[in-house]
Amino acid sequence: MAKVIAITNQKGGVGKTTTTVDLGAALSREKKKVLLVDFDPQGNLTSGLGIERKRPLTVLHMLQNEVAEVEYDVHDTIAKHETDEVNLDILPANKLLVTAETLFQSVEEDKELVLKKVLSQVKDEYDYILIDCPPSLSMLTINALGAADSVLIPVQPTKYSLDGLADLVKLVMVAQKSYNKDLDFEGIVYTLDTPTQVETRNIKQDVENAYGANIRIHDVTIPRLKDISSSPSYGVSVFDLAPTSNGALAYAKLAREVLENG
Ligand SMILES: Nc1ncnc2c1ncn2[C@@H]1O[C@H](COP(=O)(O)OP(=O)(O)OP(=O)(O)O)[C@@H](O)[C@H]1O
Ligand SMILES: [Mg+2]
Repeated sequence: MAKVIAITNQKGGVGKTTTTVDLGAALSREKKKVLLVDFDPQGNLTSGLGIERKRPLTVLHMLQNEVAEVEYDVHDTIAKHETDEVNLDILPANKLLVTAETLFQSVEEDKELVLKKVLSQVKDEYDYILIDCPPSLSMLTINALGAADSVLIPVQPTKYSLDGLADLVKLVMVAQKSYNKDLDFEGIVYTLDTPTQVETRNIKQDVENAYGANIRIHDVTIPRLKDISSSPSYGVSVFDLAPTSNGALAYAKLAREVLENG
């Protein structure tokens, strides 16, 4: 039975999609069976792994299935990223996923649990399912929290990184109180990290002071590196592009920390 991890932060550009792809790739190299769910209408995960347009069906069709009982098979929707280095399944998305917001509103009961129902069809086929969330606290993110066993929060340690973090933590606590009682924090992971800068260190201290007592802050941090930012241009993960780079090494370490967490 897969562990489902929602990778979320409503702040844009903090490395959610990159972390979904490269953590997923790292887990796949640990011989885990991994499904990545693109749950952002930007579709960056889908295009970043080079599977745009080849697949007519998307995660939106699967949500429609649950709500309107259209007969699509989730297995027909899953695309594959298979290379020498990694083996990933992807539930793709495109810009039409914005229409899911109205779809959710039309559901009378358990509108937070539509994605959970979709994923329950494949949960026993994977070890890990990673959900790449959009940069908003929308019904999409709420559905990701409804489907998840844990929440991983990528945080870029810059001046405004604490802004909005409290709102996200509150949203997780609401989920825990009402529609997903078993939801846990996987942790906070620093991304786009520039560890030698004094400002960065001060911000990490602020995050530690605010959340360290309640949320695990991962030991490994993901440095800002060209190997990591270049890989989507080639439609691959950092392990396909530069398997021995420090970026690959950092995500491999993060995978081990996630594995140790069970
Ligand atoms: N560790 C890193 N080093 C260098 N560049 C990175 C790193 N992580 C992410 N990037 C780059 O930063 C940009 C934002 O990353 P990404 O798309 O993963 O963020 P996001 O949180 O998913 O964004 P959005 O909120 O728009 O969905 C991308 O151009 C990505 O290639
Ligand atoms: Mg993204």
